[in-house]
Amino acid sequence: MAQSIFHDPVLATEVVAFMARKPGIYIDGTLGGGGHSKALLHALHQGGYLQQSLLVGIDQDDEALQEASKKLKDYEAHTVLVKGNFQNIEAILKKISAERALKPKAAGILLDLGVSSFQIDTPSRGFSYLRDGPLDMRMNSDAPLSAADIVNNYEEKELARLFYRYGEEPRSRSIARAIVARRDDTGGVCTTLELASIIRNNAYGGEKVIKTLSRVFQALRIEVNGELDVLRRVLDEGIESLDEGGRMAVISYHSLEDRIVKTSFAEKAKSDWGPKGVGLREPLSYGAVIQVKRKPVTATAKEIETNPRARSAKLRIVEKISR
Ligand SMILES: C[S@@+](CC[C@H](N)C(=O)[O-])C[C@H]1O[C@@H](n2cnc3c(N)ncnc32)[C@H](O)[C@@H]1O
Repeated sequence: MAQSIFHDPVLATEVVAFMARKPGIYIDGTLGGGGHSKALLHALHQGGYLQQSLLVGIDQDDEALQEASKKLKDYEAHTVLVKGNFQNIEAILKKISAERALKPKAAGILLDLGVSSFQIDTPSRGFSYLRDGPLDMRMNSDAPLSAADIVNNYEEKELARLFYRYGEEPRSRSIARAIVARRDDTGGVCTTLELASIIRNNAYGGEKVIKTLSRVFQALRIEVNGELDVLRRVLDEGIESLDEGGRMAVISYHSLEDRIVKTSFAEKAKSDWGPKGVGLREPLSYGAVIQVKRKPVTATAKEIETNPRARSAKLRIVEKISR
């Protein structure tokens, strides 16, 4: 596996500056090729915190874990890599801390959402509408549902709803209709390029074709991997798992994800002042976190120039309140 296909970690300087502030357990819930983890471990080392720190790297993709273990070799003594889904972050943290007699609370949690460039660029994983491969799209190759299962078994209405809901695709209905017609004709739509050609034939022309391709592929990927449900769960469990003063940072790449992160962080930061007009002196309950930045952090023009993936990235950070 070529090193170069795991691209540079997005917003790494900013992530490290916000997170590496004290010793403790750091969880990278989306380990990928280990780029962010390496930057974090390096910063903990520079700050003199590494000896009392442990980095827990989680990924559901075996190839990512293999690549990251190579990249983090120098920090082996301070790293535990786990195959798993970040939606189980609390259980993973409890197990690892119990094994090491550590307090089961994290000083930092990072999520760099979505798929890695390596996954997209590997044709056999079926994520790309530019590379021919099986319609797979599973981040975890042991998972039961593939994109082909959805494309060939969902009813037309379900497909249309999916493309609209998770891709915000205006041509959702006609694309769903065309997929169903093709699969009835040929017995099945099995490859990425077959699906891409159906989408191309049913999208508006010009640049809009690429947008439609991205949106439909995005919708399928979200459904295959349950991405929005696991995100909601990890935001809840993650905040529970933070130590006082610990921080959770989330990088999202599209509006559906960012909306969930934004709303969840805002709710968790809010104190409950009861019904309007009661005039309480103190809230009924305080927010669990403060928002470290009210607005999302985005990449500089310089970073976008060298790392186009950074263009749509939004980083949001909260800190668990100490009481
Ligand atoms: C954008 S990449 C992360 C890249 C990484 N930050 C780096 O520096 O190399 C996202 C990674 O998270 C993994 N992933 C996505 N959702 C996950 C989930 N729910 N649980 C575990 N891993 C997940 C993917 O398999 C992929 O390897």
